[in-house]
Amino acid sequence: MGARITGWGYKLPEKVITNDDLAQKMDTSDAWIRERTGIAKRHIGGTTSELATEAGKAALKASGTDAKDIGLVILATASPDRLMPATSAKVHEQLGIQGGAFDCNAACAGFIYALLSAYGIADKFDTKVLLIGSDTLSRFVDEQDRQTAVLFGDGAGALVIEPDAEELILGFEAGTNGGGDNLLYIDHGDKLKMNGKEVFKQAVRSDSESIKTLFRKTSVSPKDIKLFVPHQANIRIIEAVTSRIDIPMENTMVTISETGNTTAASIPLALAKAADENRLTRGDLILLSGFGAGMTWASVILKW
Ligand code: UT7
Repeated sequence: MGARITGWGYKLPEKVITNDDLAQKMDTSDAWIRERTGIAKRHIGGTTSELATEAGKAALKASGTDAKDIGLVILATASPDRLMPATSAKVHEQLGIQGGAFDCNAACAGFIYALLSAYGIADKFDTKVLLIGSDTLSRFVDEQDRQTAVLFGDGAGALVIEPDAEELILGFEAGTNGGGDNLLYIDHGDKLKMNGKEVFKQAVRSDSESIKTLFRKTSVSPKDIKLFVPHQANIRIIEAVTSRIDIPMENTMVTISETGNTTAASIPLALAKAADENRLTRGDLILLSGFGAGMTWASVILKW
């Protein structure tokens, strides 16, 4: 057996915060944020479960799948509504799903780890999976910290994965540098802390090395990739990685200017937007890669 993506969807909160809005509250400017990050605006608001439910609903509708036929919900998130229970339980209830549900936290790489789990379960156990990435990091950002307050936005993206005769994932590559756990973190009851410069360097190095290894392992060449969908953390990270792995920017999905960094939602959101823009045809090879707190990263090549 194998599996296939049969539906996708996303949800962004209505409220938009522009760079000029932020410049009124702190010592920053539209020019600095655009030049150093590629971000023009971000959407803020809602809870992780609310955004996840809306994205999940859109993906179910697009795939024509009844919620009652979903055997499992996997929610990738680093900003659960509560520490316990898993936020996926609420999403499960709100969508009327009858199977199981669990959360997966690998920060900005979380969606890829969740995708690997979804694929394995759909493939081996003949189960339809609703896979969602949803985050509301704006709740944890210190509004006075200009290094981080300009970066993060809220959002959610979702896929329906169904058992099928086709192979969905051609290969994956993943890694963690646990020694870097103090470079980007949120302590209980506290706000997000980040050493931006070090995270930037590790993101470029780990993403590009991991993707080059993945190309070697799968015998896929950069020219075979129809679309590269990277985690959207900083346009300069995306540009540095694409040049190191020989994928042109025109074959790379970029949503960061409209959304900022939406953590575990950024990859499914960008993928759903690419599909909506008719940038993907059945059989296309797509490269996904994510890097973030941990420091944890993962890349996969999938067949659309
Ligand atoms: O998704 C998880 C992974 N997260 C990331 O990948 C984030 C990775 N890091 C970054 O994207 C970048 O490091 C930042 C965007 C956070 C910062 O950009 P940078 O180019 O590394 O800036 P910097 O820290 O080297 O700071 C350069 C200057 C400093 O001023 P001085 O010391 O040169 O006078 C900063 O104080 O820019 C200043 N600065 C700002 N100025 C205006 C830092 N943040 C801002 C700001 N507005 N928002």
